[in-house]
Amino acid sequence: MNILLIGSGGRENALAWKMAQSHQCDEIFIAPGNPGTAEFGTNLPIDINAFDALKKAAIEHQIEMIVVGPEEPLVKGIYDFFNDDPLTAHINIIGPSAKAAQLEGSKAFSKHFMQRHQIPTASYAEFTLENYEQGLAYISAHALPIVLKADGLAAGKGVIIATTHQEALTSFKEMLQDKQFGAASDKVVIEQFLEGIEVSVFALTDGTNYQIIGHAKDYKRIGEGDTGLNTGGMGCVSPVPFMDAAFMAKVNAQIVKPTIKGIQQEGLVYKGFVFFGLMNCQGEPYVIEYNCRLGDPETEVILPRLQTDLVSLLAAVDNGTLEDVNIQYHEQFFATVMAVSCGYPGSYEKNFPIQGIELAQKLPDSLVFQAGTGFQENTIVTKGGRVLTVTSQGKDLQEAVQKARKALSTIQFEGMYFRKDIGYELTIYNGII
Ligand code: AMP
Ligand code: GLY
Repeated sequence: MNILLIGSGGRENALAWKMAQSHQCDEIFIAPGNPGTAEFGTNLPIDINAFDALKKAAIEHQIEMIVVGPEEPLVKGIYDFFNDDPLTAHINIIGPSAKAAQLEGSKAFSKHFMQRHQIPTASYAEFTLENYEQGLAYISAHALPIVLKADGLAAGKGVIIATTHQEALTSFKEMLQDKQFGAASDKVVIEQFLEGIEVSVFALTDGTNYQIIGHAKDYKRIGEGDTGLNTGGMGCVSPVPFMDAAFMAKVNAQIVKPTIKGIQQEGLVYKGFVFFGLMNCQGEPYVIEYNCRLGDPETEVILPRLQTDLVSLLAAVDNGTLEDVNIQYHEQFFATVMAVSCGYPGSYEKNFPIQGIELAQKLPDSLVFQAGTGFQENTIVTKGGRVLTVTSQGKDLQEAVQKARKALSTIQFEGMYFRKDIGYELTIYNGII
């Protein structure tokens, strides 16, 4: 079958790489893609939110499956757009309906959902300008630290963890009164701070049945030892030693199963990936957030680890056989390490030529996934903050990280930076160093 993949990051490069291995896959088209995805299919210069242009391309290229990478088109209703049109209703769209995508698109919606289905999460309250004064009183009486979240999508910037009441009150005012995130902060969720280790679990569902397809731990801070500013993610490892069978059984029973049951009970149309952002609080999992898509860079470790054919798995979502699929993982450990532009996550320059990608790709046990890259004439140049990631496998996490670092040392662009300590605390935990 022909597949249309929407997005242009490392996640989409990993998806294209994995789908291209399937005997069920004929051609892959990627909108808009990047030089990395172009190795596995045809990039189409179409914006991820240009639904009409995407529809035209889907018809022209006889697309039978659409895989939506990022959240924005999902929250904007890409599933419904294709599903409601007789010309495209036959296409298997991997992603939830707009209503179901509110699990990511609205913090208040997802908190209500978790409450209705007794899914463990931080206690919370929500406020708008209408009960603003109550919000101020609520914050002043709340234990510290305290978490403030803009209700809507805010490009990953809508969460504030305040360590003083004054800081929390100021952020509350900025979000509600000063409309810091526009309509996304017309409502603010205030949450209890959960102390623990953050991890992610990924499932694929057809709205009734589901399969867990992987888990990961990501490293969000720019600096080694988890210091400095938050980023979109500087690296990931999988499997995570402490996410053993006992912990995953708890995650499944207390979180994944009740979430899918809740989706089914509420009649939410959801055929796609569910990303459970979790806090492991002394062995007990709590939901921090739902995302209605795969993570980036989590995808760059979970897909290489997944042995099962991805296109067959995605086809099973559409033909009612998801329950029968056998999920298998490679036995080795996987690590991905992200190379970023100098200055990221602040401002950075672009258009620097990148050397050595081909060399790195030739190394055993390593894969290069491009993220913020583009073509300039025939050269691959930097186009974003997170430029590319190398995923490597090894007999343990330490070996996987070492191989990724070695592969990265063959790649150069001006101002290139990557964390050399991805997985550092887990390799100690695992008794490896
Ligand atoms: P979110 O957009 O909800 O994923 O929040 C962004 C980040 O803020 C998360 O990845 C966590 O690191 C942190 N965070 C969010 N909610 C909480 C919470 N209740 N307790 C502790 N940290 C949190
Ligand atoms: N790496 C976190 C995300 O994709 O949201």
